[in-house]
Amino acid sequence: MRLKSYAIAACAACLCLSTALAQEEPQVVRQDLMKEIGRSVGALGAIAKGEKHYDAATVETSLKTISTNSQAFPDQFPAGSESGHETEALPAVWEKPEQFRAGAEKLHTEAQAVMASMPADQEGVKAAMGRLGAVCSDCHETFRVKK
Ligand code: HEC
Repeated sequence: MRLKSYAIAACAACLCLSTALAQEEPQVVRQDLMKEIGRSVGALGAIAKGEKHYDAATVETSLKTISTNSQAFPDQFPAGSESGHETEALPAVWEKPEQFRAGAEKLHTEAQAVMASMPADQEGVKAAMGRLGAVCSDCHETFRVKK
């Protein structure tokens, strides 16, 4: 009797895990990571353009998100995730994995460097945007479907 209820509990845990995994397809995870990066750059851009007042907390959170997500990003391209979930990743990701990883690493180090000399006003954020934006377009140029 006891054993049976353990078995049922274990089975329920299993089912739970497999639904959680199904929602965490790498294509979806990496797109979410990029969406967050996009939103962070959007927040910085609004300050750079003067649409929003400079706010140190927003700047710091945005830079942190860019830094953290760019580190996690290149691990979300396992074999078998080349298509599906409307991925915009080009085959180049799998053909030139080192260049791809280097691009993500570049974004990570740039975000860290900008954080180390924390932009203190609108001009500083504008300069940071220039630095980061170049890294985004460099990678998208080679590794993301052109729109
Ligand atoms: C190392 C390469 C790389 C770098 C660096 C990079 N991206 Fe991306 N980005 C990609 C790839 C690849 C995709 C497509 C992912 C997919 O659809 O599977 C993507 C997708 C996106 C998307 C669409 C997400 C979605 O599905 O809705 C946005 C927004 C985005 N990137 C913004 C940025 C911004 C902003 C930066 C710079 C701060 C940046 N990216 C830097 C490779 C990169």
